[in-house]
Amino acid sequence: MKSKKLIPILFLIFIVLSCAEKDKLDKTISPDNKIEIIVGTENGIPYYEVYADGKSVIDKSMLGFEFKNEPTFKDSLEIINIEKRNFDETWKPIYGTDEYVRNNFNESTITFQEFSKSKRKFQLIVRAYNDGVAFRYVLPGKNTGDSLFITQENTMFRFAQNDSAWWIPSDEFAYESLYRDNPLSEINNAATPLTIECKNGLFLSVHEAALYDYSEMYLQNAGENSPDFFVSLWPEPDGVCARVKTPFTTPWRCIIISRNAGGLIESHLVQNLNEPCKIENVSWIKPLKFVGIWWGMHLGKYTWYEGKNHGATTERTQQYADFAAQHKIGGVLAEGWNMGWETWASGVKPIQDFSKAYSDFDLEQVVSYCQKNNVEFVSHHETGGNIPEYELQLESALALCQKYGIHYLKTGYAGPIIPEGYHHHGQYMVNHFQKVVETAAKYQICLDVHESIKPTGIERTWPNLMTQEAARGNEWNATYKATPPYHTTILPFTRFIAGPYDYTPGIFKIIHSPESNKRLFCTLTHQLALFVVFYSPMMMVSDLIENYESRPEFKFIEEVPCTWQETKVIDARLGDYVSIARRSDDVWFVGSIADENCYLIKIPLSFLEKGKSYVAEIYCDAADTDWENNPESVAINSFVVSSLDTIYAAISKAGGHAVIIRPLNAVEDLLPEISVNNKMALENMIKFEKLKTYGSNTSKHLAFGKSVKQVYEYSDNYPAAGRIALTDGIKGSYNINENWQGFEAVDMEAIIDLGETQEISKISAGFLDSPNDWIFYPIQVEFLVSVDGKTYKSKGKIPVTPTKPENMELTASRDINCEFEKTNIRFVKVIASSVKTCPDWHYGKGKNAWLFCDEIVVE
Ligand code: NOJ
Ligand code: CA
Repeated sequence: MKSKKLIPILFLIFIVLSCAEKDKLDKTISPDNKIEIIVGTENGIPYYEVYADGKSVIDKSMLGFEFKNEPTFKDSLEIINIEKRNFDETWKPIYGTDEYVRNNFNESTITFQEFSKSKRKFQLIVRAYNDGVAFRYVLPGKNTGDSLFITQENTMFRFAQNDSAWWIPSDEFAYESLYRDNPLSEINNAATPLTIECKNGLFLSVHEAALYDYSEMYLQNAGENSPDFFVSLWPEPDGVCARVKTPFTTPWRCIIISRNAGGLIESHLVQNLNEPCKIENVSWIKPLKFVGIWWGMHLGKYTWYEGKNHGATTERTQQYADFAAQHKIGGVLAEGWNMGWETWASGVKPIQDFSKAYSDFDLEQVVSYCQKNNVEFVSHHETGGNIPEYELQLESALALCQKYGIHYLKTGYAGPIIPEGYHHHGQYMVNHFQKVVETAAKYQICLDVHESIKPTGIERTWPNLMTQEAARGNEWNATYKATPPYHTTILPFTRFIAGPYDYTPGIFKIIHSPESNKRLFCTLTHQLALFVVFYSPMMMVSDLIENYESRPEFKFIEEVPCTWQETKVIDARLGDYVSIARRSDDVWFVGSIADENCYLIKIPLSFLEKGKSYVAEIYCDAADTDWENNPESVAINSFVVSSLDTIYAAISKAGGHAVIIRPLNAVEDLLPEISVNNKMALENMIKFEKLKTYGSNTSKHLAFGKSVKQVYEYSDNYPAAGRIALTDGIKGSYNINENWQGFEAVDMEAIIDLGETQEISKISAGFLDSPNDWIFYPIQVEFLVSVDGKTYKSKGKIPVTPTKPENMELTASRDINCEFEKTNIRFVKVIASSVKTCPDWHYGKGKNAWLFCDEIVVE
């Protein structure tokens, strides 16, 4: 790990020395004169600062480097040369959110030189755009080809105000965490894009672009309770973060700057910072919607590995291909077609064979069946994180794809990286991902990469890298940690700033496993709207195909494209709601989604061609739509509209709204006017406001909000809301089941300090039983109380009826209660004894079992 000690020291030096005047300055100003990035030195320390509309965005922030094999590059420097250029081009992406992209900036190349006798130099390339700023370093080295071992990049982001930011921690697995909203000073470390809503009205998003042969960056708070951050890199096992050959150009560090939330989404800064396309013949690179054998495995209905419930059989894949062909869906994915999935499921070293199919899957037959039906087969490689093994097979596996004419491949890295010690986001992995992209380009294969690094705009240069994951997707909604409704509303302003994202939307069966209380916390219209709100040129239509049969709403998915000629954000409030309009030829699609609240969004149709009539086909929450009890109710109606109209979108709690607006055919002019919809929308809003709000069923009790000390650690895979989950007033039963804390093969032992002596007469704790998910009731629960927190008195050991084999398919939750005479105590201890390993009758016999606990209620 990087030396944390250095941070405050460097910071101090910078502050102390920041008072000399004679040092040279460079100003790079955006073409519209509104954004300015200043670069200079103070007492030999290089720095930059950023202004927008005359407001300070980034205070003087240092620049520099530390190396293992060279002296540092961060002081004793002066600017000896500045070269300027301006640039203006318009380029046409193969696929994208806009048909044409303008790339217009002013640039300075600033050469720094040491004034010590070694006179080493480096350059900083700085750009100012109308939508932000960016800079990157060029490290020349002594001789071309020298190796430089970078141990630290000293770039800082010292935000001018302590504004509120949407962030995720830098090191949670595959970036699959929920975004949080905190003042910058309270964030210890964050992955980028880090999105900031400034009190002065500006919106910022910090990210990196063109990441090659280097570590991913994250932001580490400088630790002074301030909004000051250092760029941090992931070290390889020997502590070196990047081993590079000189001259070396780093990735860009960039800040998108906008005057409104929507501007962040509309910006092309990250792509513009990348090189033009390097693939000559791009005729095979085409956006693709695809269904797939996927959700079935996440639901536990099918298995990835061969057996009686094997998902990817020849027959089922062909059924999916038939469905795709009938419903204008371009492709079909089959996960689990190849041999070796047992090794992934076993959790030992995953070794799969990417060239050999299971005996019930005939690759050649499936691909030719797909081709006959004009459907692309999307292949799948789950590396499980075993990089040497995948690199060994890469050429032959991709050559096999080419042999059969497979142009699409989903890859996955679900597992700790092998070789051990390498981080998911360090240089080794960055280079691995790029190697796969370039090898895939050679074999004409488009990629959808899961558990990837973050996108950095490389899809402009290598457009076969069509989409990536690196965020918490719909798959979480198959588990006991379904995502809260706001999650999808913040993604367009955070993860999507980086680039296309395969969220896998389109789940129609919202309460998909009622018997286990597993479900999505949104309405069906929300899932529909995601096809517009989210951008991914490889876009999965994720539900089981049987859940789409005879659903009129599916027409929206049939029609919606996954590449666009124009994108306009209609309205948005970060983490609350977002409404986006996108155009494909002369048809517009509008998608709007809400968090746990309901909203009336007005969609002015001024983007339509003036004087022309259109039909707006609206898929909206119906009067009886209720995320909790009736989430699949959708009203579908058509209206005649023009550019002078405004559509009122009444979005139910956790709801959505999706519209197709196409030119009117002569026969359709009997359709009602939009005022009919708008009146209905106002009426529906009154109903929606009365619905229960997700997460609002907090019940207070004596332990509510009190901290909990746990003797056995709960698993990071199921940490619920973290430390306070057991006393947050939300019971992990019924529908709100994201609050379970999971314990893997250990007991649960929690001590709650009520803060002061209180009179209590009842303690209860909730547990989950879901054998299909390897979760079992405890054997026994003991309740203890104490006045001083040292000596505890048992109030009862309550045995629990063990889970029975015949309950295999069931899920239940129950509270174990302990009632007693009123007692004055301050500390409560609950010990739940786990079965620890799956029982003999279970298919996981002898392997780790889970104990899921939720609210400990003290009354
Ligand atoms: C995680 C991926 O995100 C998911 O889509 C895939 O089904 C599993 N890994 C198995 O590869
Ligand atoms: Ca994943």
